[in-house]
Amino acid sequence: MNTKTTVIETEALQQQFAYCDKISALWHEKNTTPTAYVETYGCQQNEADSEKLRGYLAMSGYAMVQSPEGADVVVMNTCAIREHAEQRVFGNLGALTHTKRRHPGQKIFLCGCMAGETKVSDRLKKSYPHVDGVFSTHHLWQFPEILYRVLTGNKRQFYIADEAGSIAEGIPQMRDDSLKAWVSIMYGCNNFCTYCIVPYVRGRERSRKKEDILAECRALIENGCKDITLLGQNVNSYGKDLYPDFDFSDLLAEISAIPGDFLIRFMTSHPRDAGKKLFDTMASSSKIAKQLHLPFQSGSSRILKAMNRHYDRQKYLDAVTYAKSVMPELVLTSDVIVGFPGETEEEFEETISLIEAVRYDSLFTFIFSPRTGTPAASMDDPTSKEEKNRRFDRLCGVQNAISEQIHAAYIGKKLRCLVDGTDKDQLTARTEGGRLVRFAGDPALIGTFQNLTITGATTWSLTGELAR
Ligand code: SAH
Ligand code: SF4
Ligand code: F3S
Repeated sequence: MNTKTTVIETEALQQQFAYCDKISALWHEKNTTPTAYVETYGCQQNEADSEKLRGYLAMSGYAMVQSPEGADVVVMNTCAIREHAEQRVFGNLGALTHTKRRHPGQKIFLCGCMAGETKVSDRLKKSYPHVDGVFSTHHLWQFPEILYRVLTGNKRQFYIADEAGSIAEGIPQMRDDSLKAWVSIMYGCNNFCTYCIVPYVRGRERSRKKEDILAECRALIENGCKDITLLGQNVNSYGKDLYPDFDFSDLLAEISAIPGDFLIRFMTSHPRDAGKKLFDTMASSSKIAKQLHLPFQSGSSRILKAMNRHYDRQKYLDAVTYAKSVMPELVLTSDVIVGFPGETEEEFEETISLIEAVRYDSLFTFIFSPRTGTPAASMDDPTSKEEKNRRFDRLCGVQNAISEQIHAAYIGKKLRCLVDGTDKDQLTARTEGGRLVRFAGDPALIGTFQNLTITGATTWSLTGELAR
Protein backbone atom coordinates (compact mmCIF):
# COMPACT_ATOMS: atom_id res chain seq x y z
CA MET A 1 0.00 0.00 0.00
CA ASN A 2 1.35 3.42 -1.00
CA THR A 3 1.62 5.69 2.07
CA LYS A 4 2.52 9.08 0.64
CA THR A 5 -0.06 11.87 0.42
CA THR A 6 -0.23 13.58 -2.95
CA VAL A 7 -0.84 17.31 -2.83
CA ILE A 8 -2.66 18.32 -5.98
CA GLU A 9 -1.00 21.48 -7.30
CA THR A 10 -2.98 24.46 -8.56
CA GLU A 11 -1.89 23.82 -12.17
CA ALA A 12 -3.25 20.26 -12.05
CA LEU A 13 -6.59 21.57 -10.83
CA GLN A 14 -6.57 24.28 -13.53
CA GLN A 15 -6.33 21.45 -16.07
CA GLN A 16 -9.49 19.95 -14.59
CA PHE A 17 -11.24 23.31 -14.91
CA ALA A 18 -10.13 23.37 -18.55
CA TYR A 19 -11.86 19.99 -19.02
CA CYS A 20 -15.02 21.55 -17.52
CA ASP A 21 -14.81 24.28 -20.18
CA LYS A 22 -14.38 21.70 -22.93
CA ILE A 23 -17.41 19.72 -21.71
CA SER A 24 -19.44 22.94 -21.59
CA ALA A 25 -18.40 23.68 -25.17
CA LEU A 26 -19.48 20.20 -26.33
CA TRP A 27 -23.00 20.83 -25.08
CA HIS A 28 -23.04 24.41 -26.29
CA GLU A 29 -22.46 23.15 -29.83
CA LYS A 30 -25.57 20.99 -29.46
CA ASN A 31 -27.51 23.94 -28.10
CA THR A 32 -28.75 22.02 -25.06
CA THR A 33 -28.39 22.30 -21.32
CA PRO A 34 -27.35 18.85 -20.08
CA THR A 35 -28.69 17.42 -16.81
CA ALA A 36 -27.02 15.44 -14.03
CA TYR A 37 -28.19 13.37 -11.10
CA VAL A 38 -25.92 12.59 -8.15
CA GLU A 39 -27.01 9.94 -5.65
CA THR A 40 -25.21 9.82 -2.32
CA TYR A 41 -24.92 6.85 0.03
CA GLY A 42 -23.14 6.60 3.37
CA CYS A 43 -21.77 9.23 5.69
CA GLN A 44 -21.27 13.01 5.72
CA GLN A 45 -17.88 12.57 4.08
CA ASN A 46 -19.68 11.32 1.02
CA GLU A 47 -22.23 14.15 1.26
CA ALA A 48 -19.32 16.59 1.25
CA ASP A 49 -17.75 14.81 -1.74
CA SER A 50 -21.05 14.96 -3.62
CA GLU A 51 -21.05 18.74 -3.18
CA LYS A 52 -17.73 18.74 -5.06
CA LEU A 53 -19.06 16.42 -7.79
CA ARG A 54 -22.01 18.80 -8.25
CA GLY A 55 -19.63 21.76 -8.21
CA TYR A 56 -17.64 20.27 -11.08
CA LEU A 57 -20.82 19.33 -12.96
CA ALA A 58 -22.23 22.86 -12.60
CA MET A 59 -18.91 24.24 -13.85
CA SER A 60 -19.28 21.96 -16.88
CA GLY A 61 -22.72 23.40 -17.68
CA TYR A 62 -24.94 20.69 -16.14
CA ALA A 63 -28.22 21.46 -14.38
CA MET A 64 -28.96 19.19 -11.40
CA VAL A 65 -32.07 17.00 -11.47
CA GLN A 66 -33.74 14.90 -8.77
CA SER A 67 -33.97 11.54 -10.55
CA PRO A 68 -31.88 9.40 -12.92
CA GLU A 69 -34.74 9.27 -15.45
CA GLY A 70 -33.66 11.20 -18.53
CA ALA A 71 -30.48 12.57 -16.91
CA ASP A 72 -27.43 12.88 -19.19
CA VAL A 73 -25.08 12.00 -16.34
CA VAL A 74 -25.77 9.78 -13.32
CA VAL A 75 -23.21 9.53 -10.52
CA MET A 76 -23.55 6.99 -7.72
CA ASN A 77 -21.39 8.07 -4.78
CA THR A 78 -21.23 4.84 -2.80
CA CYS A 79 -20.61 3.51 0.71
CA ALA A 80 -18.81 0.26 1.56
CA ILE A 81 -19.24 0.17 5.32
CA ARG A 82 -21.60 -2.82 5.44
CA GLU A 83 -22.69 -5.58 3.06
CA HIS A 84 -26.23 -4.22 3.04
CA ALA A 85 -25.05 -0.79 1.82
CA GLU A 86 -23.29 -2.45 -1.12
CA GLN A 87 -26.25 -4.64 -2.02
CA ARG A 88 -28.45 -1.54 -2.26
CA VAL A 89 -26.00 0.10 -4.64
CA PHE A 90 -25.77 -2.98 -6.87
CA GLY A 91 -29.58 -3.17 -6.92
CA ASN A 92 -29.99 0.47 -7.89
CA LEU A 93 -27.16 0.22 -10.39
CA GLY A 94 -28.93 -2.69 -12.07
CA ALA A 95 -32.08 -0.57 -12.41
CA LEU A 96 -30.08 2.04 -14.34
CA THR A 97 -29.90 -0.34 -17.33
CA HIS A 98 -33.55 0.68 -17.89
CA THR A 99 -33.03 4.45 -17.61
CA LYS A 100 -30.10 4.10 -20.01
CA ARG A 101 -32.18 2.11 -22.48
CA ARG A 102 -34.79 4.88 -22.46
CA HIS A 103 -32.07 7.55 -22.80
CA PRO A 104 -29.15 5.91 -24.67
CA GLY A 105 -26.89 8.94 -24.29
CA GLN A 106 -26.89 8.57 -20.52
CA LYS A 107 -23.42 8.21 -18.96
CA ILE A 108 -23.23 6.34 -15.66
CA PHE A 109 -20.45 6.69 -13.08
CA LEU A 110 -19.73 4.94 -9.81
CA CYS A 111 -17.43 6.53 -7.26
CA GLY A 112 -16.96 6.73 -3.50
CA CYS A 113 -15.83 4.04 -1.10
CA MET A 114 -16.99 0.98 -3.06
CA ALA A 115 -14.90 2.11 -6.03
CA GLY A 116 -11.83 1.59 -3.81
CA GLU A 117 -12.46 -2.16 -3.55
CA THR A 118 -10.90 -4.41 -6.17
CA LYS A 119 -13.68 -6.99 -5.85
CA VAL A 120 -16.19 -4.25 -6.74
CA SER A 121 -14.29 -2.83 -9.72
CA ASP A 122 -13.75 -6.37 -11.06
CA ARG A 123 -17.47 -7.08 -10.80
CA LEU A 124 -18.32 -3.78 -12.52
CA LYS A 125 -15.86 -4.48 -15.34
CA LYS A 126 -17.33 -7.91 -15.93
CA SER A 127 -21.03 -7.70 -15.22
CA TYR A 128 -22.09 -4.03 -15.44
CA PRO A 129 -21.15 -2.90 -18.95
CA HIS A 130 -23.59 0.03 -18.74
CA VAL A 131 -21.34 1.72 -16.16
CA ASP A 132 -19.13 4.13 -18.12
CA GLY A 133 -16.71 5.29 -15.45
CA VAL A 134 -15.47 4.18 -12.04
CA PHE A 135 -13.22 6.29 -9.79
CA SER A 136 -12.13 5.90 -6.17
CA THR A 137 -12.19 8.78 -3.65
CA HIS A 138 -8.50 9.46 -4.41
CA HIS A 139 -9.43 10.36 -7.98
CA LEU A 140 -12.48 12.51 -7.32
CA TRP A 141 -10.47 15.63 -8.18
CA GLN A 142 -10.06 14.22 -11.73
CA PHE A 143 -13.79 13.81 -12.37
CA PRO A 144 -13.93 16.41 -15.23
CA GLU A 145 -11.15 14.58 -17.07
CA ILE A 146 -12.91 11.22 -16.60
CA LEU A 147 -16.24 12.65 -17.76
CA TYR A 148 -14.64 14.28 -20.81
CA ARG A 149 -12.93 11.03 -21.79
CA VAL A 150 -16.18 9.11 -21.50
CA LEU A 151 -18.07 11.74 -23.52
CA THR A 152 -15.51 11.86 -26.33
CA GLY A 153 -13.90 8.43 -26.38
CA ASN A 154 -16.68 5.88 -26.12
CA LYS A 155 -14.39 3.89 -23.84
CA ARG A 156 -15.00 2.92 -20.23
CA GLN A 157 -12.75 4.68 -17.72
CA PHE A 158 -11.39 3.12 -14.51
CA TYR A 159 -9.44 5.44 -12.17
CA ILE A 160 -8.93 3.11 -9.25
CA ALA A 161 -5.19 2.98 -8.54
CA ASP A 162 -4.43 2.19 -4.89
CA GLU A 163 -3.06 5.39 -3.37
CA ALA A 164 -2.49 6.82 0.08
CA GLY A 165 -4.74 9.68 -0.95
CA SER A 166 -4.58 13.24 -2.09
CA ILE A 167 -5.42 16.73 -0.89
CA ALA A 168 -6.88 19.09 -3.48
CA GLU A 169 -7.83 22.63 -2.48
CA GLY A 170 -10.13 24.73 -4.64
CA ILE A 171 -12.54 22.16 -6.12
CA PRO A 172 -15.82 24.08 -6.61
CA GLN A 173 -18.57 23.02 -4.19
CA MET A 174 -22.29 23.19 -4.76
CA ARG A 175 -23.91 23.29 -1.33
CA ASP A 176 -27.64 22.58 -1.00
CA ASP A 177 -28.09 24.51 2.17
CA SER A 178 -26.88 28.04 2.88
CA LEU A 179 -27.55 27.73 6.64
CA LYS A 180 -25.64 24.56 7.43
CA ALA A 181 -22.39 23.30 5.96
CA TRP A 182 -20.02 20.37 6.15
CA VAL A 183 -16.34 21.26 6.17
CA SER A 184 -13.83 18.42 5.81
CA ILE A 185 -10.77 19.13 7.91
CA MET A 186 -8.99 15.89 7.13
CA TYR A 187 -9.34 12.79 5.02
CA GLY A 188 -8.63 9.09 5.50
CA CYS A 189 -7.98 7.05 8.61
CA ASN A 190 -4.96 5.34 10.19
CA ASN A 191 -6.75 3.43 12.92
CA PHE A 192 -7.48 0.14 11.21
CA CYS A 193 -10.21 -0.98 13.57
CA THR A 194 -10.33 -4.69 12.72
CA TYR A 195 -13.93 -4.62 11.39
CA CYS A 196 -13.64 -1.48 9.27
CA ILE A 197 -13.01 -0.96 5.57
CA VAL A 198 -12.58 2.84 5.66
CA PRO A 199 -8.75 2.92 5.93
CA TYR A 200 -8.53 0.65 2.87
CA VAL A 201 -10.83 2.74 0.68
CA ARG A 202 -10.10 6.26 1.92
CA GLY A 203 -6.35 6.02 2.44
CA ARG A 204 -4.08 7.47 5.10
CA GLU A 205 -4.88 10.32 7.45
CA ARG A 206 -4.11 13.70 5.93
CA SER A 207 -5.04 17.10 7.30
CA ARG A 208 -5.94 20.23 5.38
CA LYS A 209 -3.88 23.29 6.25
CA LYS A 210 -5.44 25.33 9.01
CA GLU A 211 -5.36 28.49 6.85
CA ASP A 212 -7.48 26.76 4.18
CA ILE A 213 -10.02 25.55 6.76
CA LEU A 214 -10.25 28.94 8.45
CA ALA A 215 -10.68 30.73 5.12
CA GLU A 216 -13.48 28.33 4.14
CA CYS A 217 -15.26 28.80 7.50
CA ARG A 218 -14.90 32.59 7.32
CA ALA A 219 -16.38 32.69 3.82
CA LEU A 220 -19.30 30.46 4.88
CA ILE A 221 -20.08 32.63 7.90
CA GLU A 222 -19.87 35.83 5.83
CA ASN A 223 -22.41 34.27 3.46
CA GLY A 224 -24.90 33.60 6.25
CA CYS A 225 -24.00 30.06 7.30
CA LYS A 226 -25.01 29.46 10.95
CA ASP A 227 -24.04 25.88 11.60
CA ILE A 228 -20.75 24.29 10.53
CA THR A 229 -19.91 20.62 11.05
CA LEU A 230 -16.20 19.82 10.84
CA LEU A 231 -15.66 16.39 9.31
CA GLY A 232 -13.02 13.70 9.66
CA GLN A 233 -12.99 9.98 10.47
CA ASN A 234 -11.03 10.81 13.58
CA VAL A 235 -10.93 14.56 14.11
CA ASN A 236 -8.74 14.21 17.22
CA SER A 237 -5.86 13.30 14.93
CA TYR A 238 -6.16 16.62 13.11
CA GLY A 239 -2.80 18.25 12.40
CA LYS A 240 -0.58 15.37 13.52
CA ASP A 241 0.79 15.06 9.99
CA LEU A 242 1.35 18.81 9.62
CA TYR A 243 2.03 20.66 12.86
CA PRO A 244 4.14 19.80 15.91
CA ASP A 245 2.07 21.97 18.25
CA PHE A 246 -1.35 22.72 16.77
CA ASP A 247 -4.09 20.19 17.34
CA PHE A 248 -7.84 19.79 16.86
CA SER A 249 -8.69 21.73 20.04
CA ASP A 250 -6.55 24.63 18.81
CA LEU A 251 -8.38 24.54 15.48
CA LEU A 252 -11.77 24.60 17.23
CA ALA A 253 -10.65 27.58 19.32
CA GLU A 254 -9.49 29.51 16.22
CA ILE A 255 -12.71 28.85 14.30
CA SER A 256 -14.84 29.87 17.26
CA ALA A 257 -12.94 33.19 17.37
CA ILE A 258 -14.28 34.16 13.92
CA PRO A 259 -16.76 37.02 14.46
CA GLY A 260 -20.45 36.20 13.91
CA ASP A 261 -23.40 34.30 15.31
CA PHE A 262 -22.85 30.63 14.46
CA LEU A 263 -22.30 27.16 15.92
CA ILE A 264 -19.54 24.66 15.22
CA ARG A 265 -19.88 20.89 15.64
CA PHE A 266 -17.65 18.06 14.60
CA MET A 267 -17.61 14.35 13.87
CA THR A 268 -16.20 11.88 14.48
CA SER A 269 -14.23 12.00 17.68
CA HIS A 270 -12.36 8.80 18.57
CA PRO A 271 -12.42 7.94 22.30
CA ARG A 272 -8.79 6.86 22.07
CA ASP A 273 -7.61 10.46 22.16
CA ALA A 274 -10.62 12.57 23.10
CA GLY A 275 -9.38 14.07 26.34
CA LYS A 276 -9.59 16.94 28.78
CA LYS A 277 -8.17 19.55 26.41
CA LEU A 278 -10.93 18.89 23.88
CA PHE A 279 -13.74 18.95 26.45
CA ASP A 280 -12.35 22.08 28.15
CA THR A 281 -12.16 23.82 24.76
CA MET A 282 -15.75 22.83 24.00
CA ALA A 283 -16.89 24.13 27.37
CA SER A 284 -15.01 27.41 26.94
CA SER A 285 -16.84 28.74 23.87
CA SER A 286 -20.54 29.41 23.39
CA LYS A 287 -20.00 28.93 19.65
CA ILE A 288 -19.02 25.27 20.02
CA ALA A 289 -22.19 23.16 20.19
CA LYS A 290 -22.45 21.04 23.30
CA GLN A 291 -22.89 17.93 21.21
CA LEU A 292 -20.52 15.01 21.08
CA HIS A 293 -20.65 11.93 18.88
CA LEU A 294 -18.29 9.52 20.65
CA PRO A 295 -18.60 5.99 19.21
CA PHE A 296 -17.94 3.31 21.82
CA GLN A 297 -18.62 0.21 19.62
CA SER A 298 -18.71 -2.20 22.57
CA GLY A 299 -18.93 -2.13 26.37
CA SER A 300 -16.53 -5.05 26.73
CA SER A 301 -12.82 -4.36 27.11
CA ARG A 302 -11.96 -7.72 25.57
CA ILE A 303 -14.01 -6.97 22.46
CA LEU A 304 -12.58 -3.43 22.26
CA LYS A 305 -9.12 -4.95 22.19
CA ALA A 306 -10.14 -7.40 19.46
CA MET A 307 -11.51 -4.40 17.56
CA ASN A 308 -8.14 -2.60 17.92
CA ARG A 309 -9.85 0.45 19.42
CA HIS A 310 -7.02 1.43 21.83
CA TYR A 311 -9.23 2.23 24.83
CA ASP A 312 -11.07 0.12 27.34
CA ARG A 313 -14.45 0.37 29.02
CA GLN A 314 -13.11 2.33 32.00
CA LYS A 315 -11.17 4.84 29.90
CA TYR A 316 -14.30 5.47 27.85
CA LEU A 317 -16.49 5.94 30.92
CA ASP A 318 -13.92 8.28 32.48
CA ALA A 319 -13.88 10.45 29.34
CA VAL A 320 -17.69 10.70 29.36
CA THR A 321 -17.77 11.52 33.06
CA TYR A 322 -15.27 14.34 32.58
CA ALA A 323 -17.08 15.69 29.50
CA LYS A 324 -20.40 15.77 31.38
CA SER A 325 -18.77 17.42 34.39
CA VAL A 326 -17.58 20.42 32.33
CA MET A 327 -20.68 20.46 30.05
CA PRO A 328 -23.74 19.42 32.08
CA GLU A 329 -26.03 20.14 29.10
CA LEU A 330 -23.98 17.89 26.75
CA VAL A 331 -25.95 15.91 24.15
CA LEU A 332 -24.15 12.62 23.67
CA THR A 333 -24.58 10.19 20.77
CA SER A 334 -22.63 7.11 19.74
CA ASP A 335 -22.16 4.12 17.42
CA VAL A 336 -22.31 0.52 18.61
CA ILE A 337 -21.71 -2.82 16.90
CA VAL A 338 -23.62 -5.91 18.01
CA GLY A 339 -22.32 -9.41 17.28
CA PHE A 340 -18.62 -8.75 16.67
CA PRO A 341 -16.99 -12.19 16.08
CA GLY A 342 -16.81 -14.11 19.33
CA GLU A 343 -18.94 -11.68 21.37
CA THR A 344 -20.40 -13.69 24.25
CA GLU A 345 -23.73 -13.10 25.96
CA GLU A 346 -21.87 -11.60 28.97
CA GLU A 347 -19.89 -9.29 26.73
CA PHE A 348 -23.07 -8.17 25.05
CA GLU A 349 -24.56 -7.48 28.49
CA GLU A 350 -21.54 -5.24 29.17
CA THR A 351 -22.60 -3.19 26.15
CA ILE A 352 -26.11 -2.91 27.59
CA SER A 353 -24.79 -1.84 30.98
CA LEU A 354 -22.56 0.79 29.38
CA ILE A 355 -25.57 2.23 27.53
CA GLU A 356 -27.50 2.33 30.80
CA ALA A 357 -24.61 4.00 32.60
CA VAL A 358 -23.96 6.68 29.96
CA ARG A 359 -27.57 7.30 28.85
CA TYR A 360 -27.07 8.48 25.28
CA ASP A 361 -29.54 10.83 23.65
CA SER A 362 -29.49 8.52 20.64
CA LEU A 363 -27.44 5.69 19.19
CA PHE A 364 -26.53 4.44 15.73
CA THR A 365 -26.79 0.67 16.08
CA PHE A 366 -25.21 -1.87 13.72
CA ILE A 367 -24.97 -5.63 13.43
CA PHE A 368 -21.41 -6.70 12.57
CA SER A 369 -20.95 -7.11 8.83
CA PRO A 370 -17.79 -8.90 7.62
CA ARG A 371 -15.83 -6.81 5.10
CA THR A 372 -13.46 -8.63 2.76
CA GLY A 373 -9.84 -7.77 3.49
CA THR A 374 -10.36 -6.69 7.11
CA PRO A 375 -8.97 -8.86 9.94
CA ALA A 376 -12.39 -9.38 11.59
CA ALA A 377 -13.80 -10.94 8.41
CA SER A 378 -11.70 -14.05 9.02
CA MET A 379 -12.22 -14.27 12.80
CA ASP A 380 -14.19 -17.17 14.24
CA ASP A 381 -17.83 -16.16 14.52
CA PRO A 382 -19.88 -18.93 16.16
CA THR A 383 -22.91 -16.77 17.09
CA SER A 384 -25.97 -17.41 14.92
CA LYS A 385 -27.69 -14.71 12.89
CA GLU A 386 -30.86 -15.21 14.94
CA GLU A 387 -28.98 -14.68 18.18
CA LYS A 388 -27.38 -11.49 16.82
CA ASN A 389 -30.79 -10.22 15.77
CA ARG A 390 -32.14 -10.94 19.24
CA ARG A 391 -29.28 -9.00 20.85
CA PHE A 392 -29.81 -6.18 18.41
CA ASP A 393 -33.53 -5.92 19.19
CA ARG A 394 -32.85 -5.99 22.92
CA LEU A 395 -30.27 -3.22 22.59
CA CYS A 396 -32.61 -1.04 20.50
CA GLY A 397 -35.36 -1.52 23.08
CA VAL A 398 -33.09 -0.39 25.92
CA GLN A 399 -31.87 2.65 23.96
CA ASN A 400 -35.34 3.69 22.77
CA ALA A 401 -36.60 3.77 26.34
CA ILE A 402 -33.65 5.97 27.34
CA SER A 403 -34.11 8.31 24.35
CA GLU A 404 -37.78 8.64 25.23
CA GLN A 405 -36.98 9.49 28.86
CA ILE A 406 -34.32 12.02 27.89
CA HIS A 407 -36.66 13.65 25.38
CA ALA A 408 -39.53 13.77 27.89
CA ALA A 409 -37.22 15.65 30.28
CA TYR A 410 -36.95 18.44 27.69
CA ILE A 411 -40.62 19.37 28.22
CA GLY A 412 -40.89 22.81 29.80
CA LYS A 413 -37.28 23.76 28.95
CA LYS A 414 -36.48 26.91 26.99
CA LEU A 415 -33.78 26.26 24.34
CA ARG A 416 -32.03 28.40 21.76
CA CYS A 417 -32.60 26.75 18.38
CA LEU A 418 -31.66 27.41 14.79
CA VAL A 419 -34.79 27.57 12.63
CA ASP A 420 -33.78 25.62 9.53
CA GLY A 421 -36.80 24.78 7.38
CA THR A 422 -40.39 23.65 7.08
CA ASP A 423 -42.13 20.31 7.42
CA LYS A 424 -45.71 20.34 6.11
CA ASP A 425 -47.29 23.42 7.73
CA GLN A 426 -44.78 23.65 10.59
CA LEU A 427 -41.31 25.09 10.98
CA THR A 428 -38.35 22.90 11.94
CA ALA A 429 -35.48 23.88 14.18
CA ARG A 430 -32.43 22.23 15.73
CA THR A 431 -31.40 22.53 19.34
CA GLU A 432 -27.74 23.20 20.02
CA GLY A 433 -27.42 19.47 20.68
CA GLY A 434 -28.82 18.73 17.22
CA ARG A 435 -32.30 17.54 18.29
CA LEU A 436 -35.19 18.24 15.90
CA VAL A 437 -38.00 20.54 17.11
CA ARG A 438 -41.22 21.22 15.19
CA PHE A 439 -43.20 24.39 15.96
CA ALA A 440 -45.68 26.86 14.44
CA GLY A 441 -44.22 30.12 13.19
CA ASP A 442 -43.60 32.55 10.35
CA PRO A 443 -41.29 31.12 7.64
CA ALA A 444 -39.46 34.47 7.78
CA LEU A 445 -37.81 33.07 10.94
CA ILE A 446 -35.86 30.51 8.90
CA GLY A 447 -32.17 31.24 9.26
CA THR A 448 -32.45 32.83 12.71
CA PHE A 449 -31.79 31.56 16.22
CA GLN A 450 -34.97 31.58 18.35
CA ASN A 451 -35.77 30.62 21.92
CA LEU A 452 -38.30 27.78 21.92
CA THR A 453 -40.21 26.35 24.85
CA ILE A 454 -40.47 22.57 24.48
CA THR A 455 -44.06 21.36 24.81
CA GLY A 456 -43.94 17.74 23.65
CA ALA A 457 -41.59 14.84 22.95
CA THR A 458 -41.36 11.47 21.19
CA THR A 459 -38.45 9.01 20.91
CA TRP A 460 -37.12 10.84 17.86
CA SER A 461 -38.14 14.48 18.03
CA LEU A 462 -39.56 17.38 20.02
CA THR A 463 -42.37 19.88 19.57
CA GLY A 464 -42.30 23.42 20.87
CA GLU A 465 -43.50 26.99 20.64
CA LEU A 466 -41.82 30.37 20.41
CA ALA A 467 -40.86 31.39 23.95
CA ARG A 468 -42.47 34.53 25.25
N1 SAH B 1 -14.63 6.98 11.98
C1 SAH B 1 -15.79 6.74 12.71
C2 SAH B 1 -16.75 5.74 12.16
C3 SAH B 1 -17.02 5.63 10.73
S1 SAH B 1 -18.00 4.28 10.25
C4 SAH B 1 -15.38 6.25 14.05
O1 SAH B 1 -14.39 5.56 14.21
O2 SAH B 1 -16.10 6.48 14.98
C5 SAH B 1 -19.48 4.51 11.17
C6 SAH B 1 -19.83 3.35 12.04
O3 SAH B 1 -20.13 2.21 11.28
C7 SAH B 1 -18.75 2.88 12.98
O4 SAH B 1 -18.63 3.69 14.10
C8 SAH B 1 -19.20 1.49 13.33
O5 SAH B 1 -20.07 1.50 14.43
C9 SAH B 1 -19.98 1.07 12.09
N2 SAH B 1 -19.24 0.05 11.33
C10 SAH B 1 -18.06 0.18 10.71
N3 SAH B 1 -17.68 -0.98 10.13
C11 SAH B 1 -18.65 -1.88 10.41
C12 SAH B 1 -18.85 -3.27 10.11
N4 SAH B 1 -17.95 -3.96 9.40
N5 SAH B 1 -19.97 -3.86 10.56
C13 SAH B 1 -20.88 -3.17 11.27
N6 SAH B 1 -20.76 -1.87 11.59
C14 SAH B 1 -19.65 -1.24 11.17
FE1 SF4 C 1 -13.11 2.84 10.73
FE2 SF4 C 1 -11.95 2.83 13.09
FE3 SF4 C 1 -11.14 4.55 11.23
FE4 SF4 C 1 -13.50 4.86 12.38
S1 SF4 C 1 -11.51 5.01 13.41
S2 SF4 C 1 -13.06 4.99 10.20
S3 SF4 C 1 -14.17 2.77 12.71
S4 SF4 C 1 -10.92 2.33 11.15
FE1 F3S D 1 -19.39 4.62 4.01
FE2 F3S D 1 -17.13 5.53 3.10
FE3 F3S D 1 -18.49 6.93 4.86
S1 F3S D 1 -17.53 3.44 3.62
S2 F3S D 1 -19.55 5.40 6.05
S3 F3S D 1 -19.16 6.46 2.84
S4 F3S D 1 -16.27 6.79 4.70
